[in-house]
Amino acid sequence: MKLLVRRLFPYAGKIAFRGGSYKGGEAQDMNYRHAFHAGNFADLLKHAVLLGLLAALRDRGRPLRVIDTHAGAGVYDLEDTPTLKSGEAAAGILRLAGTDEACDPQLQILMAEVRAINPVGLRHYPGSPLLAARALGPKDGLIACELRDEEADLLRATLDRHGPRPGPVVRVRTVDGFGYVATVSPDPAASTLVLIDPPYEAGDDYDRVVETVERVLARMPDAVVAIWAPIKDLETLDFLLRRLEAIPDARGYVAQLRLRPLVNPMRMNGCAMIVLGAAETAAAALATTAQLVRLCGETGAQAVVHPLGG
Ligand SMILES: C[S@@+](CC[C@H](N)C(=O)[O-])C[C@H]1O[C@@H](n2cnc3c(N)ncnc32)[C@H](O)[C@@H]1O
Repeated sequence: MKLLVRRLFPYAGKIAFRGGSYKGGEAQDMNYRHAFHAGNFADLLKHAVLLGLLAALRDRGRPLRVIDTHAGAGVYDLEDTPTLKSGEAAAGILRLAGTDEACDPQLQILMAEVRAINPVGLRHYPGSPLLAARALGPKDGLIACELRDEEADLLRATLDRHGPRPGPVVRVRTVDGFGYVATVSPDPAASTLVLIDPPYEAGDDYDRVVETVERVLARMPDAVVAIWAPIKDLETLDFLLRRLEAIPDARGYVAQLRLRPLVNPMRMNGCAMIVLGAAETAAAALATTAQLVRLCGETGAQAVVHPLGG
């Protein structure tokens, strides 16, 4: 088994794999570093859908409050060793930047954001809190939660450097994002968007996603909640979707980007953005997912967007 893991994943001793980390084939806790994955196909889907949601919610005309439960460092250097070694950005953002194919509107907005922090060349890739901060206005707010001190410090510096001025009220909190967002009070004057993007390396991440969505929607039934999830085998995703669907007020859609047929559950074969609320953004999410399938998919890749709940 160890040999198989090493053949499939040449950096298996060093990299925390999204959706389950492996060290010599064994799972370990809190090893996750997003730098390995920054700008990969999964980031492109998550960030393009996020930008679509931010635009749709800002169009509602009320102040927008964004809570990013797993924020990360905010920007990633594509020339750093982990990013270069994994090759994931090369098969993601760098491929998108080099394509001649007409880009779908959400990916165009993402590309514009990438260009904005790269006046020359393409070396830096933005993370979710930076994209959110740049999409928000002075009446809006962003709360970015990050458990690791080091990432949280980097995020503060990133937002100072690249955040818009005048920009939203931004708070970076070094806390457990699941626990934090579940206690946030409703704000009847504002729209609320919650992004939940855990590493799925802790055994209970799926349980905590479900419990957190339950608690958030119990306090704020109108909140829009976007959840990123890996696709390795279908039953793990389906089990998550069934549990989410059982939550009162959990209605929306799921955008699945399947990079390849799901024949090897040891690999990350794709990813999903699960969006609760803002059903009007589903068509845009389908267009984005379909373009990413054309750009990054292997033979048998599929874009699948379907309703959830309701
Ligand atoms: C997938 S990365 C986030 C990427 C980011 N959302 C983006 O799109 O740019 C997950 C991050 O969550 C952090 N993390 C892990 N467990 C956490 C928790 N319980 N609360 C807050 N942050 C956590 C990790 O340190 C890591 O930086």
